[in-house]
Amino acid sequence: MFASRTDWSLTPNRLSVVIAERRAKGLPFIDLTQSNPTHCGFSVNAQGVIEALVNSYSLAYEPDPHGLLCARQAVAGYYAERGIQVDPEQIFLTTSTSEAYSYVFRLLANPGDNVLVPRPSYPLFDFLARLNDLELLSYPLMYYQGWRIDVEALLMRLNTRTKAVLVVHPNNPTGCFVRGKDLAVLTGCSQRRPLAIVADEVFADYAFVAPVPRAAALPISSGAADRVLSFAAESEALTFTLSGLSKISAVPQMKLAWVIVSGPEELLRAALARLEVIADTYLSVSAPLAHALPELLESRRQVQPQILDRVRLNLRWLDEQLSRGAAVTRLETEGGWYVILRLPAVRTDEEWATELLRQDGVLVHPGHFYDLPYESHLIVSLLPFTEIFRQGVLRILARASDELNA
Ligand SMILES: Cc1ncc(COP(=O)(O)O)c(C=O)c1O
Repeated sequence: MFASRTDWSLTPNRLSVVIAERRAKGLPFIDLTQSNPTHCGFSVNAQGVIEALVNSYSLAYEPDPHGLLCARQAVAGYYAERGIQVDPEQIFLTTSTSEAYSYVFRLLANPGDNVLVPRPSYPLFDFLARLNDLELLSYPLMYYQGWRIDVEALLMRLNTRTKAVLVVHPNNPTGCFVRGKDLAVLTGCSQRRPLAIVADEVFADYAFVAPVPRAAALPISSGAADRVLSFAAESEALTFTLSGLSKISAVPQMKLAWVIVSGPEELLRAALARLEVIADTYLSVSAPLAHALPELLESRRQVQPQILDRVRLNLRWLDEQLSRGAAVTRLETEGGWYVILRLPAVRTDEEWATELLRQDGVLVHPGHFYDLPYESHLIVSLLPFTEIFRQGVLRILARASDELNA
């Protein structure tokens, strides 16, 4: 009856089983996977948000495959503030970045073609690729005092059916940004073969250190030097830059995102014309949301400083604890909402996660959920309330040192 692309294993994983057990017994737990910003106590201009959704212009149906111009102008304004010129004609509004990925995959790839994605990264790529009949190939990020793209390995993975290389900027959960020199390699490749870049920038506003303009020519060793400002400015390779309100304004419930197309003139024109047909087939963004977009985007000015304060405070406090010689260390990160902890290698990541939940009532994600190539690593969200974060981390540190001393 069903398409083979939906033949997923629907058996719950070990961690979900333990969560269900605890819930059934009414046992509470500290959720250090919490990354839903609407559950983390940030103050929003509730009245402003509600009023933005009530707009008499929404009573008229004005279909536009790109999404309403007033909304796209607001998106262009967001990039202009970062010094990047985007023409509203380059923008398509979508209901989520997931939908934007699907549009781009449908545009670029035939069934059986492949896209290259970073490993470790965002787990949804598996599903997005499969739903679009694509094969997913990965290229490694390597860790040495910080994460970097293993460019040599990436080049080796490209084959004649590779249609795009995906970058997540900064990546989830490693928090690393793409370097200008890595982008230069990708654009070089795209000049030799039909290869597009797909850049997911949903966390781009959450850098721990502000980006340094390339012209400033600081030494590469300074963390933020040579960081790509935004792929939306890329003009040498056909590039699709994805972002949206779920992280920028911390309103995932609003379901509003976009894709910006840039690149060499001829390819750009062809891509826009074809994407227009795809987007016109769905016309998925509703008028009330499109009219509200300028106000919702504006609300980032209130929420982003609160989020940045929270993640920085949690990270600083974590570092203070780890500097006391704990059995746990953390991996370097440059931005985003997550941190990766390295626990003693006496257990696998899955064993650590299930034991922490069973015995200590702390929920974390094992690294393999994100395809982390190392054992005994856990992913922790930096978004939870400070008190909750501290309690959870203290329990992890206590358990790790008990295990090590056992
Ligand atoms: C890398 C990355 N891209 C996209 C998203 C989701 O974006 P959206 O809500 O617009 O689909 C997430 C959510 O966590 C993410 O981590």
